[in-house]
Amino acid sequence: MEVPAPQPVLSPLTTASLFLVLTVDPGGEPVVRELLADLAGLQRSVGFGHPDGRLSVVAGIGSACWDRLVDGPRPAGLHPFRELQGARHRAPATPGDLLLHIRAARQDLCFSLGSEIMSRLRGAVAVADEVTGFTYLDQRDLLGFVDGTENPVGRAAAEAVLIGAEDPDFAGGAYVIVQKYLHDLDAWNRLPVEQQERIVGRRKLTNVEIDSPGSHVELNTITGPDGRERQILRDNMPFGSPGSGEFGTYFIGYARTPEVTEEMLRHMFLGDGPVSHDRILDFSTAVTGTLFFVPSADLLEDLGAEEDAGTGEAGSLGIGDLRSS
Ligand code: HEM
Repeated sequence: MEVPAPQPVLSPLTTASLFLVLTVDPGGEPVVRELLADLAGLQRSVGFGHPDGRLSVVAGIGSACWDRLVDGPRPAGLHPFRELQGARHRAPATPGDLLLHIRAARQDLCFSLGSEIMSRLRGAVAVADEVTGFTYLDQRDLLGFVDGTENPVGRAAAEAVLIGAEDPDFAGGAYVIVQKYLHDLDAWNRLPVEQQERIVGRRKLTNVEIDSPGSHVELNTITGPDGRERQILRDNMPFGSPGSGEFGTYFIGYARTPEVTEEMLRHMFLGDGPVSHDRILDFSTAVTGTLFFVPSADLLEDLGAEEDAGTGEAGSLGIGDLRSS
C-alpha cells in the first residue's frame, strides 16, 4: 500500500505559532471543505517568498464535524475529547470543529497565513479560541523549565504519530489533542526551585532528568504491553499577556492513536498508583480540551470534491475512491 503524504505534522519545532480552534456554522460546510482542500496551496503562496520562514499549517477535524464534512467512513479513533474529573483537578472538554496549527520561524508569517485562512472562512465559522504562541528564552515554558526535550525525532516521530496499516483508509493521518493551560505563576514562583524540580522531574537550570517518583515526567512515561515506551509528539507553546497577568502553556500532542495521550492525561488528572495527580496541575488549570483527526495531505485535498454529507454521493475524488485504491 502506498502511504499517502501526511500534512506537515512532523515539521521541526519553530519559534512562532498560531492556534485557531473554530466551530463550523450550520451551512458552512462547503466553504470549509473548499478551504481545507486549498490549504496546502495557501501555505505555499504565503510562505514561498520566505524560504527561511518555514511556514506550515496543519488542519484537524473534530468528531462531530467529521460527519458533516465527509460522506464516508470515520477514522477508527475519532471521538470527542473525554473530559476527566479527578479528586482535585478537571480536564474539561470544550467545543472545536476545526484546528489550524500554524507554525513559522516568524510571527508575521503565522499572522499572514492565519489572516488569509480566516478571510476565506468568515461567515462560515465561529472562533472558539485563538492563541498566539512564542518560544520563551531557551525553549522554556513559563514555569521556567525546558519543554520538549524528550520528543521523538526522525523515524521514531513518524512511527509515533502517523497512522499506518491499522486503519488503512486513514493512513498518513494522525490524531491531535490540544489543551490550553493557565498558570498561577505567583504561587509557582513562591515554591523553592528544588520543589519545582521534583514536580517536573528535571533540573531547572541544566534540564537534566532526576529521579523523582510521581513527577510530571514519570507520570507521562508510559509503556505498551510489549514493554516499549509509547510516545507522542508535543509542540507546546507558551503564551500570555504581562499586562493582564495571563500566563499559559498551550499543550498540543500528536499521536497515531489518541489512546496514548489519553493515558497520559488519566495519569495526570486521575493519578497513577499511589500518586493522586500531577502536581503541575496545582499551578496550571486546563481551560480547554479538544480532540481532532488530522487527515493525510492527500485526503485533505480530496475533501474539496466531497458533497454535503448525508445528502449526496462522495465526489469523484471522494473518500470512497481513496478506500478502494
Ligand atoms: C501545563 C502544561 C504542561 C507543561 C508546562 C509541561 C511541561 C513539561 C516539561 C517541562 C517536560 C520535561 C521536558 C520534556 O521532555 O519535554 C515535559 C515532559 C513531558 N510532558 Fe509535559 N507539560 C504539560 C502538559 C502535558 C500534557 C497535558 C501531557 C500529555 C497529555 C504532557 C506530556 C509530556 C510527556 C510525554 C513528556 C516527556 C516525558 C518523558 O518521556 O521524559 N505534558 N512536560
